[in-house]
Amino acid sequence: MTQRMVSGAPHEDDHNLDNGLRPRQLSDYIGQDAVKGLLDISIKAARQRGEPLDHVLLYGPPGLGKTTLANIMATEMGVRIKTTSGPAIERPGDMVAILTQLQQDDILFIDEIHRLSRTVEEVLYSAMEDFFVSWVIDKGLKARSMNLSIKPFTLIGATTRYGMVSAPLRDRFGNIHRLQFYDGDAMRTIVYRSSRIMEIKAEDEGLQEIARRARGTPRIANRLLRRVRDYALVIADDVITAGVARDALARLEVDELGLDGVDRSVLRSIIEKFSGGPVGLDTIAASISEESDTIEDVYEPYLLQLGFLDKTPRGRVATRRAYEHFGLAFNQGKADNTLQGSLFEDGPT
Ligand SMILES: Nc1ncnc2c1ncn2[C@@H]1O[C@H](COP(=O)(O)OP(=O)(O)OP(=O)(O)O)[C@@H](O)[C@H]1O
Ligand SMILES: [Mg+2]
Repeated sequence: MTQRMVSGAPHEDDHNLDNGLRPRQLSDYIGQDAVKGLLDISIKAARQRGEPLDHVLLYGPPGLGKTTLANIMATEMGVRIKTTSGPAIERPGDMVAILTQLQQDDILFIDEIHRLSRTVEEVLYSAMEDFFVSWVIDKGLKARSMNLSIKPFTLIGATTRYGMVSAPLRDRFGNIHRLQFYDGDAMRTIVYRSSRIMEIKAEDEGLQEIARRARGTPRIANRLLRRVRDYALVIADDVITAGVARDALARLEVDELGLDGVDRSVLRSIIEKFSGGPVGLDTIAASISEESDTIEDVYEPYLLQLGFLDKTPRGRVATRRAYEHFGLAFNQGKADNTLQGSLFEDGPT
């Protein structure tokens, strides 16, 4: 399977380097100022009171730093962190085992928390609220339920799909934070920082070019940096200049906005096959042989952010900006479609 150069989702070879580049302390964590400020206060307050942090839910597109933040919170609180993920916890018993093994003030980090099954999730409710779990022992007539107490702990959940986290689970998080795509300044700082850690020889303009095309996502920035460095080593005297960065990125088919071939096919499919939309997500997915989930989690957030795509109740619509990006004439009829879509959204359903 080929992996997209500009997907926020991790590639296999990202892991080792990602770890080396991962900020360890809140003060090294670049950008996301609003979230960082709030977490800083929660951490200080919890430390002063000598209590565990309130449960935290982090959400946002892949590669923006959710796992990094969870680890930073553990470091800042001076506590242990146990990491697992939604799909890894199959049965309620597995969840009970994890929870009962936690020590006082530990952080339990559950990645992809939206993928917990309902029965597993239910174990969390009383654990999060009152630090106990109910557990049924014995079978048949002898079956009885027992309450096991667990040590006060902090749950940090991460998800790329806020909408898929059930309401009862969501309600039990004291802090819910959305991570945003990083702005230009933050992206440049991240690329500079990574290039220093990786001891890369580069001119500022070269690094800026990489920062600009990394779609506001640190994981992508780090990946592009590595690939451009390889290119520079083999083709261009081992120095990343602006020209080298541009050549390398062109070869990787990452355009000036960070769009790659798949983004372009999503947009072109809407524009060319479906006259600009509205068209349903599943139809788009089928027309370019991609999974709907992948389009929704990985591709769409950035296209929405760029204002190339609109979500309406009747489907996705390519905007004037998207047409302009491809040098195509915008069809005014489409604007009416979009308008109808938006009106519909406010009306009775
Ligand atoms: N604020 C930041 N400053 C500097 N580097 C960062 C920042 N956030 C993330 N990174 C870098 O990006 C990489 C990816 O971040 P991380 O694994 O935390 O993303 P994630 O949101 O958990 O992604 P996923 O949804 O795929 O789990 C990290 O290894 C780190 O090097
Ligand atoms: Mg993660």
